[in-house]
Amino acid sequence: MTDLTRRQLLGVAGTTVAGVCLLSACVTPAETPDEAASAVAAQGKGTKVAALADVQVGAAKAVTLDGKALLLTRPAEREVHLFSSICPHAGCQVAPANGELDCPCHGSRFALKDGSVISGPAQSPLAEIPVQIQGNDVVLAG
Ligand code: FES
Repeated sequence: MTDLTRRQLLGVAGTTVAGVCLLSACVTPAETPDEAASAVAAQGKGTKVAALADVQVGAAKAVTLDGKALLLTRPAEREVHLFSSICPHAGCQVAPANGELDCPCHGSRFALKDGSVISGPAQSPLAEIPVQIQGNDVVLAG
Protein backbone atom coordinates (compact mmCIF):
# COMPACT_ATOMS: atom_id res chain seq x y z
CA MET A 1 0.00 0.00 0.00
CA THR A 2 1.44 3.43 -0.93
CA ASP A 3 1.28 6.57 1.27
CA LEU A 4 -1.14 8.16 -1.15
CA THR A 5 -3.48 5.22 -0.92
CA ARG A 6 -3.27 5.18 2.89
CA ARG A 7 -4.07 8.93 3.04
CA GLN A 8 -6.97 8.50 0.68
CA LEU A 9 -8.33 5.70 2.82
CA LEU A 10 -7.95 7.73 6.02
CA GLY A 11 -9.72 10.65 4.35
CA VAL A 12 -12.61 8.46 3.33
CA ALA A 13 -12.78 6.89 6.80
CA GLY A 14 -12.76 10.35 8.47
CA THR A 15 -15.51 11.56 6.21
CA THR A 16 -17.53 8.48 6.98
CA VAL A 17 -17.06 8.85 10.74
CA ALA A 18 -17.94 12.56 10.60
CA GLY A 19 -21.00 11.72 8.56
CA VAL A 20 -22.14 9.22 11.15
CA CYS A 21 -21.53 11.70 13.96
CA LEU A 22 -23.41 14.42 12.12
CA LEU A 23 -26.21 12.03 11.40
CA SER A 24 -26.45 10.77 14.99
CA ALA A 25 -26.39 14.35 16.30
CA CYS A 26 -29.40 15.10 14.15
CA VAL A 27 -31.39 12.17 15.44
CA THR A 28 -32.68 12.35 19.00
CA PRO A 29 -33.15 8.85 20.35
CA ALA A 30 -36.76 8.16 21.23
CA GLU A 31 -37.57 7.75 24.90
CA THR A 32 -38.66 4.24 25.74
CA PRO A 33 -41.98 3.66 27.50
CA ASP A 34 -40.12 2.51 30.63
CA GLU A 35 -37.89 5.61 30.63
CA ALA A 36 -40.94 7.85 30.37
CA ALA A 37 -42.69 5.97 33.18
CA SER A 38 -39.63 6.21 35.43
CA ALA A 39 -39.30 9.94 34.80
CA VAL A 40 -42.93 10.50 35.76
CA ALA A 41 -42.69 8.29 38.86
CA ALA A 42 -39.66 10.32 39.95
CA GLN A 43 -41.94 13.33 40.41
CA GLY A 44 -42.65 11.82 43.80
CA LYS A 45 -45.41 10.24 45.85
CA GLY A 46 -48.43 12.46 46.22
CA THR A 47 -47.90 14.47 43.03
CA LYS A 48 -51.33 15.25 41.61
CA VAL A 49 -52.03 13.68 38.22
CA ALA A 50 -55.63 14.82 37.76
CA ALA A 51 -58.91 15.23 39.55
CA LEU A 52 -60.72 11.88 39.84
CA ALA A 53 -63.76 13.47 38.22
CA ASP A 54 -61.68 14.25 35.11
CA VAL A 55 -61.94 10.64 33.96
CA GLN A 56 -65.24 8.80 33.58
CA VAL A 57 -65.74 5.27 34.88
CA GLY A 58 -64.95 2.81 32.08
CA ALA A 59 -62.93 5.35 30.14
CA ALA A 60 -59.52 6.96 29.85
CA LYS A 61 -58.16 10.47 29.55
CA ALA A 62 -54.95 11.78 28.03
CA VAL A 63 -53.00 13.80 30.60
CA THR A 64 -49.51 15.27 30.84
CA LEU A 65 -47.17 15.38 33.79
CA ASP A 66 -43.70 16.88 33.61
CA GLY A 67 -44.15 17.15 29.86
CA LYS A 68 -44.82 13.43 29.45
CA ALA A 69 -47.90 12.23 27.59
CA LEU A 70 -49.82 9.78 29.76
CA LEU A 71 -53.08 7.89 29.85
CA LEU A 72 -55.17 7.90 33.01
CA THR A 73 -57.72 5.10 33.06
CA ARG A 74 -60.63 4.38 35.38
CA PRO A 75 -61.93 0.84 34.86
CA ALA A 76 -64.12 1.01 37.98
CA GLU A 77 -65.44 3.69 40.36
CA ARG A 78 -62.49 3.47 42.78
CA GLU A 79 -59.85 1.97 40.45
CA VAL A 80 -57.41 4.09 38.46
CA HIS A 81 -54.27 3.38 36.45
CA LEU A 82 -51.69 5.58 34.75
CA PHE A 83 -49.71 4.50 31.69
CA SER A 84 -47.10 6.01 29.44
CA SER A 85 -48.81 6.74 26.13
CA ILE A 86 -45.71 5.61 24.21
CA CYS A 87 -46.64 2.50 22.25
CA PRO A 88 -44.27 -0.38 23.03
CA HIS A 89 -44.41 -1.45 19.37
CA ALA A 90 -42.75 1.50 17.63
CA GLY A 91 -43.25 4.57 19.81
CA CYS A 92 -46.42 6.18 18.49
CA GLN A 93 -48.83 7.92 20.88
CA VAL A 94 -51.57 5.62 22.14
CA ALA A 95 -54.91 7.34 22.78
CA PRO A 96 -58.19 6.65 24.59
CA ALA A 97 -60.81 5.03 22.35
CA ASN A 98 -64.16 3.46 23.22
CA GLY A 99 -63.29 1.85 26.54
CA GLU A 100 -59.75 0.86 25.58
CA LEU A 101 -56.45 2.39 24.51
CA ASP A 102 -55.63 2.33 20.79
CA CYS A 103 -52.52 3.08 18.78
CA PRO A 104 -53.25 4.89 15.51
CA CYS A 105 -50.05 3.77 13.77
CA HIS A 106 -50.43 0.03 13.36
CA GLY A 107 -53.61 -0.75 15.26
CA SER A 108 -52.44 -2.17 18.58
CA ARG A 109 -55.12 -2.09 21.26
CA PHE A 110 -54.58 -2.09 25.03
CA ALA A 111 -56.82 -2.76 28.05
CA LEU A 112 -57.86 0.03 30.44
CA LYS A 113 -57.42 -2.21 33.49
CA ASP A 114 -53.76 -3.13 33.10
CA GLY A 115 -52.45 -1.82 29.79
CA SER A 116 -52.18 -5.38 28.48
CA VAL A 117 -52.26 -6.05 24.77
CA ILE A 118 -55.75 -6.82 23.42
CA SER A 119 -54.42 -7.09 19.90
CA GLY A 120 -51.00 -6.46 18.31
CA PRO A 121 -48.69 -5.96 16.64
CA ALA A 122 -47.46 -4.73 20.07
CA GLN A 123 -46.09 -7.64 22.09
CA SER A 124 -45.82 -6.00 25.51
CA PRO A 125 -48.15 -3.92 27.69
CA LEU A 126 -48.06 -0.17 28.18
CA ALA A 127 -45.63 0.95 30.89
CA GLU A 128 -47.57 1.62 34.10
CA ILE A 129 -46.86 4.28 36.70
CA PRO A 130 -48.36 3.51 40.15
CA VAL A 131 -51.14 5.89 41.21
CA GLN A 132 -53.77 6.01 43.92
CA ILE A 133 -56.92 7.91 44.74
CA GLN A 134 -56.41 10.51 47.44
CA GLY A 135 -59.53 12.43 48.29
CA ASN A 136 -60.89 13.79 45.02
CA ASP A 137 -57.58 13.47 43.19
CA VAL A 138 -55.45 10.84 41.49
CA VAL A 139 -51.88 11.11 42.76
CA LEU A 140 -48.62 9.27 42.20
CA ALA A 141 -48.20 6.38 44.62
CA GLY A 142 -44.90 5.59 46.27
FE1 FES B 1 -48.27 1.39 18.04
FE2 FES B 1 -47.12 0.23 15.97
S1 FES B 1 -46.47 1.99 17.04
S2 FES B 1 -48.95 -0.32 16.94
